[in-house]
Amino acid sequence: MKKIIHLSDLHVGFEDMGKKFFDIVESLKAFAGTNAREYVIVITGDLVDNANYQDSYEVVKAGIESLKLAGFEEVLVVPGNHDYGTGNKGNKKFVKIFRSHYFHDEENYPRKNIIEDVAFIGLDSMAEELHWYDKLWAEGELGKNQLLKLRDILEEEDVRACKKRVVYLHHHPFDARPVHQLKDSKKLKKVLIATIAKGISVDAILYGHNHEGKANNGKWGIKRCYDGGSSTMKPRPKAVSRVPWYQVHSSIRVIDIENNDVSSDQEIRVA
Ligand SMILES: [Fe+2]
Repeated sequence: MKKIIHLSDLHVGFEDMGKKFFDIVESLKAFAGTNAREYVIVITGDLVDNANYQDSYEVVKAGIESLKLAGFEEVLVVPGNHDYGTGNKGNKKFVKIFRSHYFHDEENYPRKNIIEDVAFIGLDSMAEELHWYDKLWAEGELGKNQLLKLRDILEEEDVRACKKRVVYLHHHPFDARPVHQLKDSKKLKKVLIATIAKGISVDAILYGHNHEGKANNGKWGIKRCYDGGSSTMKPRPKAVSRVPWYQVHSSIRVIDIENNDVSSDQEIRVA
């Protein structure tokens, strides 16, 4: 079973985050060496800092291509609020642009990838945040349709046959903050808890958005609940950067999903 490398909140385009992303790319290559095929990389959103600057998309795409050339065959991504606009204001036009850079198929979110014995299900937590009445601020909403599809996918035969199931999205499902929260996190909780009650485990949930990198392992009956932080350490505005509970962390974790002991997961320093 492949291990997972979790990246999040790269914010390429902001100051030197593009350079830092490439430092991470090179460090991951050095870390994996000739074993890159043994890893799946999951990037939980905010790949770019501002979707209005198309160059940033190209930089991220080049970094992902470089990882693939090095043998990281599977790089899975979901969009964050910054991938569909400025971060505080979204625009539907960026959905197509995001997809055209990272996918070559018509499949929508939830996106299912079965990789060896692990089912990865990616969610778009911006799916219902781009209407004229809710496109402002940094909130997330999966929406009823996506949650119903998630419920159905988790019960599909090939997903049930997997040894592990991993759900990943951008917005933090647990730590609700004004104008930043995942609005339908309680509904997501309901779907996942109902799935687990049917004997279908959800083994990990990966997310970002808050840039803090904390683990909430055990929440909702899910063994691994990881915030990836900001892999490139995008700095907070100066006015709040010294607030202790608001510190930015880069929590790039290598998750040994096959191992039921979460202490086998390791955080790596790569930049
Ligand atoms: Fe972010």
